[in-house]
Order: sequence, then structure tokens, then C-alpha cells
Amino acid sequence: MQLRTGQQVIHLNKTPFVSKTYFKDAERVQNEIWKDIDVRDKTVIDVGIGESTEKLVELGAKVIGVDNDFRKIMSYRKSGIPLILCDFINFPFHRRIADIVVFYFTLHEICPCHHHRALITARKIAPTVIIVEPSSHGCLAYREFARLWRDAMNSVGKFEEYMPAEYWEGIVRKAGFDKTLRKTVKWKAEVPIEVLGNIITATINEWKDMGVGEYYIKKLQEFLKENPRLTWSNIEVIIGKSLDV
Ligand SMILES: C[S@@+](CC[C@H](N)C(=O)[O-])C[C@H]1O[C@@H](n2cnc3c(N)ncnc32)[C@H](O)[C@@H]1O
Repeated sequence: MQLRTGQQVIHLNKTPFVSKTYFKDAERVQNEIWKDIDVRDKTVIDVGIGESTEKLVELGAKVIGVDNDFRKIMSYRKSGIPLILCDFINFPFHRRIADIVVFYFTLHEICPCHHHRALITARKIAPTVIIVEPSSHGCLAYREFARLWRDAMNSVGKFEEYMPAEYWEGIVRKAGFDKTLRKTVKWKAEVPIEVLGNIITATINEWKDMGVGEYYIKKLQEFLKENPRLTWSNIEVIIGKSLDV
């Protein structure tokens, strides 16, 4: 799910009904996530390409994008960014080739049984790892929306598993990163109903492409009909650093 930032926002910026407050808040959230993270001139491997890849380029990083979705790679083929099509779990390099590995809204899409392996690989290829993930907590409507997403993804053999920040910090440490830093970025603005409607339309199209069944699509439409008051969950940023590389 990438609703609060990324492609969805790019898409939503084009809608005439958007709330200024909401998009101003989205911008603030973005700035707070990347604030204090120095990526300028660093070689950054961005696992899961999208908005984070563009942001990293904007911040002056030398980015290499990795994604296991062929269509995603194709949509960035003219960007000039070096791209690797592969499942990060089977990443072909196991030695230091970068300064930073970024997982921005990506790890929750990977089976938890592979998280340790993904972090071990990150540890081998770079001395710093940055994880950005939505919090598993949130308001009632958020929890309902997140549950629908998780169930829909599970129904097609995919993952959408939000974890507490302590979990992400734990796997970073377990993979051998010596030092961890953590911050939480909070959303303030509620999602305007027009924006949520657009997000749900885009979500339904995405789900149909993935083969998600009518049952979940109906549930999502019913969720919207109830005019939910939804604020996105907090965003957790976890940075791991190795001292010996
Ligand atoms: C929610 S999107 C976030 C993308 C990007 N970081 C952004 O900010 O827009 C998650 C991305 O991770 C990719 N992904 C999921 N599992 C992956 C894996 N095992 N290896 C490589 N990419 C993966 C998906 O294809 C998707 O493009």
C-alpha cells in the first residue's frame, strides 16, 4: 500500500478537489522523514522504486533502484537511474557496493520470514540502512483500511504486514548493525473524503491487476460509503549503522 506519499499523491495532485491542508501536511511529512539524513553524493540502493527513488535523486544521492516488479522497472526506464530487476532476497551482490540501503515502504511487502535475510544482505553491501515503514497502530478507520489491505494481499499470496518500530529496530540490530536511531513522523491532517475516494479507485484498479477477488473490492467500496474519518498512521524511520565498515 502506498497511499500517503508516492505515486498516489502524484496522481492525486491532478484532482481538482484536493484539500490544500492535506497536501501541505503530506509535504511536511516527507520533509520530516528525510530531514537529518545526509544522502548527498552517497551511493544509495533504493529497494522498491518509486517516490523514494525520486526524492533521493532530488537530495543529491547517486541512486540505484532495485525492484522485483517488471512493470515498475519499465516505468522508470527513461529516468536515467540505474535499475536492477530482482528480488532483493536473491540480490546478486554480497560485498560493499554502496553507502546506504533504503527500504522505503517496502519491507512490509516482503514475507517476514525473509526480513532477516534482507537485512543481512543490506549489511553486507552498505554500512548504513534506512527503513521507513507505516506504524501498525492508528485510528479506527486506519486500522480497518490496513486490515482490508492485508487480507486482500494475503488472498493473492502477497504481504502487507505492518510491524511496530521495535520490530524493525530489532531486525536491524540482529543483522549486525551496531547503532540504531529511530524517529516517528506524525500525520496531522485527516484524509479528505474526495482524496480517499480517489485513493480507493486507484487501489481497486491495482487490486484487479493483481487478481484480488470481488469480495475485497466490495468491502473497500463499503468502507468508503461509510465516510470514514481517516488519518494515516505515524511513519517510523529506523536507521542502522555499522561501525566496522
Ligand atoms: C509500496 S512500494 C514503495 C516503492 C518506493 N519505495 C516508493 O517510495 O514509492 C513497494 C515496492 O517494493 C517492491 N518490492 C516488494 N518486494 C520486493 C522484493 N522482495 N525485492 C525487490 N522489490 C520488492 C514492490 O514491487 C514495490 O515497487
